[in-house]
Amino acid sequence: MHTPINLVVLGPPGAGKGTQAVEFAQRHVIPKISTGDILREAVQSGAELGQRAKATMDAGGLVEDELMIAIARERLNRDDVKSGFVLDGFPRTVTQATALDEIMTGRGSLVVVDIAVPDDALVARLARRRVCGQCGHATSLDPTVEARCERCGGELVLRSDDTESIVRERLRVYAEASRPLVDYYSSRPTFRAVDGDQSPAAVGAAFSEAVDAILAGMPAGSGIPEEAGA
Ligand code: AP5
Repeated sequence: MHTPINLVVLGPPGAGKGTQAVEFAQRHVIPKISTGDILREAVQSGAELGQRAKATMDAGGLVEDELMIAIARERLNRDDVKSGFVLDGFPRTVTQATALDEIMTGRGSLVVVDIAVPDDALVARLARRRVCGQCGHATSLDPTVEARCERCGGELVLRSDDTESIVRERLRVYAEASRPLVDYYSSRPTFRAVDGDQSPAAVGAAFSEAVDAILAGMPAGSGIPEEAGA
């Protein structure tokens, strides 16, 4: 049997988690689960979850652990994740990571890749990011080209939390609440960090290499790395 790839993508706001997660999930035909997308969809549809989360998201803060863990648990218990998944934006706190370990009990190891990028590059990137109001595709704004979505032709808009002051707040919150996740995972044989401060294609290649290196250490079918399983 194929080893399921249970992949967690870590990294600060704008690191390219979504960009790499979409690419990887499409290539491996596994679902990409983005808690940010789940929350934004709920905001857009007017669902109760969105009403609870919107103010926190717009201020650059983190939605409470209990709610996010419930969302992740429900999503990870659906049938389509049996052959693997890519998690983008969860976990974001050590409390969420501990809950994820519990959710994954008996389901094989997590493969964890951290995309590292310096803060100044992130602020510049997010100032250029526009998302399609129709299909949600994210792109970097090219000022010389008329701003329409390259995939569906929809209108490109600035995400409500991508203004410079909110981006700085998101980076502060990341440093305080989410960077400790690197320590939480880094001693595991299934963790790798990649340099995210290079072209998207170069990050993609480093990302795939990191996942391949981790999977090479796992006996086929078990989802358990050699060192940890020994
Ligand atoms: P979320 O949507 O997860 O936002 P984020 O983590 O801040 O990440 P981003 O989506 O901003 O960036 P990304 O790393 O995906 O980068 P991207 O690929 O788009 O969460 C939003 C909010 O929801 C949170 O602030 C919080 O309030 C709430 N939330 C979500 N999950 C939560 C949780 N688990 N717990 C609590 N609260 C939660 O790329 C960014 C830009 O750079 C794009 O324009 C892209 O085209 C470009 N780009 C990508 N790669 C490169 C590259 N290598 N070089 C140059 N440009 C690049």
